[in-house]
Amino acid sequence: MIHIEKISLLRGEISVGGDKSISHRAVMISSIAKGDSVIRNLLRGEDCRATIDAFKNMGISVNTGADGNTIIRGKGLKGLKQPEGNLYLGNSGTSMRLLLGILAGQDFKAVLKGDLSLSKRPMKRVTHPLMLMGAEIEGADSANFAPITIYGRPLKHISHKSLIASAQVKSSIMLAGLYADGKTMVTEPYKSRDHTERMLTLFGADINEEGLTISIEGLGGKELKPRQIDIPADISSAAFFIILGTIVKDAEINIIRCGINPTRTGIIKVLKDMGADIELVNKAGDFEPIADIIVRSSTLKAVKVLKEQVPSLIDEIPLIALCATQAEGTTLIEGIGELRVKETDRVNSILTNLKAFGADIEVGGDTFIIKGPKRLQGASVESFGDHRTAMMSIIAGCIADNKTIVNNSDCIATSFPNFMNILKAHAR
Ligand code: S3P
Repeated sequence: MIHIEKISLLRGEISVGGDKSISHRAVMISSIAKGDSVIRNLLRGEDCRATIDAFKNMGISVNTGADGNTIIRGKGLKGLKQPEGNLYLGNSGTSMRLLLGILAGQDFKAVLKGDLSLSKRPMKRVTHPLMLMGAEIEGADSANFAPITIYGRPLKHISHKSLIASAQVKSSIMLAGLYADGKTMVTEPYKSRDHTERMLTLFGADINEEGLTISIEGLGGKELKPRQIDIPADISSAAFFIILGTIVKDAEINIIRCGINPTRTGIIKVLKDMGADIELVNKAGDFEPIADIIVRSSTLKAVKVLKEQVPSLIDEIPLIALCATQAEGTTLIEGIGELRVKETDRVNSILTNLKAFGADIEVGGDTFIIKGPKRLQGASVESFGDHRTAMMSIIAGCIADNKTIVNNSDCIATSFPNFMNILKAHAR
């Protein structure tokens, strides 16, 4: 349980942990490359630890050097060994969905389990295309729910048209594509985050992008090469402070070395459209671009977030909804359906918690309708076991009158273990 009081000032240079999506991929892809990869700034949240533990269980050594860097001794595309017991992936959808893609091409059986939340999340979106490639997969409701049992098999390429813009679906099929004969293709309705494409290209895979279609050649006996990777700060973690900096009365912060991959910066675009005072400086990096993000208190106006923008800000919707409560006018956030199958039903958790704070928010079909500005009142709310709902509620508590309590807040550790320390160090 966390108690929060209203703050009036936010200041300083903020350094958030490594990007969660990139960290998962760095562990997975280094493990199936041949040789030692060195990773700087790997996120050590619970989700990423689930991925690390799964690969350790399959015979991969993962060590931290004296400099804090992580060294992963990759054993090659077929170098994993059959795990002992189940692979337990906790709360992490990215671990389960991407790992299924790698396991589809192995020569052994594995059983994947998760916590209560992960066991309710749909897996058909990856298991069905992987079965079409040749993997044998079992799980409740026609391989839709964990526990999932997968038997790796020789894989054939497919051309998959995904109905949802999901980087997890795209990445799972691309990882299986490394093991397939010929060229595997995935087409998505809108572009989702492209970290897998960038990292596999860096490790030597042959990937092409044409419009919304990604193709990947099977490695056919070749191996991925080990690499050194520098993981940028996670823009989805930074977003909590970007939003707080925008809506608190007196703020000026600088979030350093933050990832600004264009498939992830929807939050910056929406905030700028709302009139936020945000500057990106010291731009660098090409594998994954980075910048320092300077944020100052701002006066906001309402915006309309379109369905096609959603993949670039999917995890930031709780925060955009909060921000909209402080903006002049009616904000619409369209295409929110996918939020219903996140770590919790986030349409429900956002609606319930922001209403508890006194916000004027409704859901109409697949759209959030939020009227602002509204002065928020402190409340006692639940996390729904969801890290992003918990942290959004804490940020709301920072601008609400009176006291706020966020119950069951331990889930924050899945993505952002030092969130509260950073908040306490910079807010007054
Ligand atoms: C992720 C993709 C997104 C995102 C999740 C991480 C990834 O999920 O919500 O937090 O690392 O690929 P979907 O691809 O299912 O939208």
